[in-house]
Amino acid sequence: MSPTFLVLLVLCTPSLCYFDPPKDSCFCQLSGNIDECSCNINTVDHFNNIKVYPRLRSLLRKDYFRFFKVNLKRECPFWHDDSKCAMKYCHVLPCGEGEVPQGIKGEGGRSDEAKCEDKQLDYLNTTISEKMREDLVMWTAYDDALDDFCVKDDKDEEAEYVDLLLNPERYTGYKGTSANRIWNSIYLENCFRPKTFYSLYIPSHMLSNMCLEERVYYRAISGLHSSINIHLCANYLLSNSGLSLANPKGEWGPNLKEFQRRFSPETTNGEGPHWLRNLYFVYLLELRALAKAAKYLEHEKYYTGDEMEDFDTQMAVKDLLNVAQQFSGHFDESSMFTGSAQAKRLKTEFKEHFRNVTRIMDCVGCDKCKLWGKLQTRGLGTALKILFSQNLNHKLFRLQREEIVALFNAFGRLSTSIYKLDDFRQMLRGHDEL
Ligand SMILES: *[C@@H]1O[C@H](CO)[C@@H](O)[C@H](O)[C@H]1NC(C)=O
Ligand SMILES: *[C@@H]1O[C@H](CO)[C@@H](O)[C@H](O)[C@H]1NC(C)=O
Repeated sequence: MSPTFLVLLVLCTPSLCYFDPPKDSCFCQLSGNIDECSCNINTVDHFNNIKVYPRLRSLLRKDYFRFFKVNLKRECPFWHDDSKCAMKYCHVLPCGEGEVPQGIKGEGGRSDEAKCEDKQLDYLNTTISEKMREDLVMWTAYDDALDDFCVKDDKDEEAEYVDLLLNPERYTGYKGTSANRIWNSIYLENCFRPKTFYSLYIPSHMLSNMCLEERVYYRAISGLHSSINIHLCANYLLSNSGLSLANPKGEWGPNLKEFQRRFSPETTNGEGPHWLRNLYFVYLLELRALAKAAKYLEHEKYYTGDEMEDFDTQMAVKDLLNVAQQFSGHFDESSMFTGSAQAKRLKTEFKEHFRNVTRIMDCVGCDKCKLWGKLQTRGLGTALKILFSQNLNHKLFRLQREEIVALFNAFGRLSTSIYKLDDFRQMLRGHDEL
């Protein structure tokens, strides 16, 4: 057993919590069984941090997985897009051409970095080398050739490839009305909820009154929300002055205070630890989808045109899928949507709600947040498709390249969150010893 694992075990022992100061309270309640599942938190921590995370980390650096095609220009279908106003400072004075800092344009020129702070944080580097661009055209042709029974969305002509490694998910300063509106509409208008209950988050004790499918839906959304928040806390802009000419790259790292603010029971009405548990839940959901689709995914070509690289990618995928399949205590979807006409209706509603969540991503007013929001909801949607599709083992079942890329990257994000939780746990522990 590794030393880190032992530390984890000690920290997770409930009896310790009694003596601990509240600082550590995010983690005190984070032990024992994961809701709706047959395995516990410690098992998943160990499995993820030792077996899954390192594998995914190297797999997601492969060309096949690092380029995601996405349309960031679609209009928000639900309300007028007020994103420009949401970015601090920019509604007062939009950053003009001459104001975009040197670091961003990659050339000389004076700039006014303070006014553009948030624009910089939101900057999406869409650079793709000439060679890569040619390759990508070839990949698309290859994908299209296999795809003849698929209906294409012609709006996707606006879609472009983004290099995910160039644009890591991190703190962007996107908050306030526009950001709140996104989560509000997801929780209030696109979740299953107890009737006559109007606060945003459903308290954990009320979830038990809802049926399994509704709980699963809510936990998946809540887990995704936690995961995104953990990334922002773990990859926070630490330098006070923001990005500046003197420090164009900024200093990024974990922000413990922010983490505690978002998850400790004291600041969340006791719900923070439940939100963290939901992260484990959605992790298990996507893990199960990978295991369930393993046979299918093993036969995918992971085509990039470079035979050696493609072979390596395929081997690395197989290796990861093996690990996923070996996990004992998978989420069990078999009792969901069974039987009655009511179950059928529930499934339709479940699907419609979730589809609508993916459309809400078009309303996100920050390109980087939108990119990662789209990628993670698409990945979760793909996992749901695998779990609840009747023809998974049918010849006609097919996943598009973007679905596969999204699925693995979304799972990679959840895996990273669980891994980063461990860092926060250690930091809190160090804190207590001071
Ligand atoms: C965008 O990425 C490319 C490739 O890594 C790099 O050369 C360029 O400097 C980046 N641009 C900015 C403004 O960071
Ligand atoms: C989709 O989401 C929007 C925004 O939250 C909401 O107004 C609308 O009622 C939802 N539509 C469906 C079919 O759920």
